[in-house]
Amino acid sequence: MVPGITYFTSTHLPLRDKAHEISNRTIRILTTTKTSVTLVAAKSPRRGYRMSNGAAEELPMYDLVRVRALAVEGSLQGGSLLEVLHTVQNNLGYLDENAIPTIADVLNLSKAEVQGVISFYRDFHENPRAATVVKLCRAEACQAVGAERLVAYASKRLGVAVGESSVDGQIGLEQVFCLGNCALGPSGMIDDRLIGLLDEAKLDSHLDPLLRSGG
Ligand code: FES
Repeated sequence: MVPGITYFTSTHLPLRDKAHEISNRTIRILTTTKTSVTLVAAKSPRRGYRMSNGAAEELPMYDLVRVRALAVEGSLQGGSLLEVLHTVQNNLGYLDENAIPTIADVLNLSKAEVQGVISFYRDFHENPRAATVVKLCRAEACQAVGAERLVAYASKRLGVAVGESSVDGQIGLEQVFCLGNCALGPSGMIDDRLIGLLDEAKLDSHLDPLLRSGG
């Protein structure tokens, strides 16, 4: 058992599907037997889950009042949609899908316009992010010097697929397409630190302390 993590065990097997429906990132299935399923949910200051009547229930912790206030303030200052989205993400950590109608309403845009911009830019995140994010470049120059092998290695080491976070939400693995460090590839970035000439050993030297400290 890991401190800070909530474990649920239930004999209600449809819960497994319900949990995936709620979030396939922050709730994970640990074990499934014929009669029970054990789930783990990372506690987050922004979002949480509780068991209720045999179902996992999402707690409404994404602060839509704050979203509206930030959007109104941004629009009064003449901020563009991009600026408002960055402000909301910087303040709340990510752009929950429930924020889209609020932002659209304040800026007098359609929900599709807001969703389109969020989906287009890689810098916007629609789910809570891991505390530490390991990014590996998969663009052509890095691929030519072993990026794919490195991505597979990192995925195995961290126990997560690309685009996913560890069960406790501490470490995430993401792909990027060029970090502007092509001559020193394979390249990666851990949080905001650019690292070049990566190989398994060098990657391990950065991952080991993270894995020891849990991110
Ligand atoms: S291709 Fe990887 S840093 Fe440019």
